[in-house]
Amino acid sequence: MKKSGIRAIQNIYIDIVYICLYNIDFVFIFVTSKTNRNRKNNINKSKKFTIMKVTEFTKLSTLAVKPVVEALQQLLADYQIYYSNLRGLHWNVKGKEFFVLHAQFENMYDNAATKIDEIAERILMLDGIPAHNYSEYLKTSNVKELGYVSNGDEGVTHVMETISHFVTAERTILSLASEVGDETTVAMMSDYIKEQEKLLWMLVAYKS
Ligand SMILES: [Fe+2]
Repeated sequence: MKKSGIRAIQNIYIDIVYICLYNIDFVFIFVTSKTNRNRKNNINKSKKFTIMKVTEFTKLSTLAVKPVVEALQQLLADYQIYYSNLRGLHWNVKGKEFFVLHAQFENMYDNAATKIDEIAERILMLDGIPAHNYSEYLKTSNVKELGYVSNGDEGVTHVMETISHFVTAERTILSLASEVGDETTVAMMSDYIKEQEKLLWMLVAYKS
């Protein structure tokens, strides 16, 4: 084959390679721009989501319920430490009352766990963000961590003192919530107080 013929075939081959590369580039640009567009759409969607407030729909003022949210955050921290203390009492209690108290402390921490979830979700309904770190709870909790306690009587005394603290704190929250028309928190606190006053009566009877 003549040199000019070989050169012509080489040129055609180079052109085909360029066309392929150009198309790959084009496909790449197309896919990238589509992905970016989808990403931007998703960001816009999440922006729209984050600016929505529950209180816009429940018609409560975010500013007015702020003291309620703060008081609920405090109550949440207190309940988390109380929950952890109850687990320790459930595990470590010893003596003739073991079977009664072991079971009762379990009932109590299950009950506390339910309340923890309810309080955290109430904070969210009021557009707050509930704390979830124990390091945070330990900084703010009014309930102190219990050390090792195996004496049932000592454990029951801790429960009575803590429940007494909760009843007082919940009355304050009830009053704050009532001032801003937050009936749901009022009803919730009212239920807690009613239940815990009855528990205190039973614990006093147990200890008498
Ligand atoms: Fe257990």
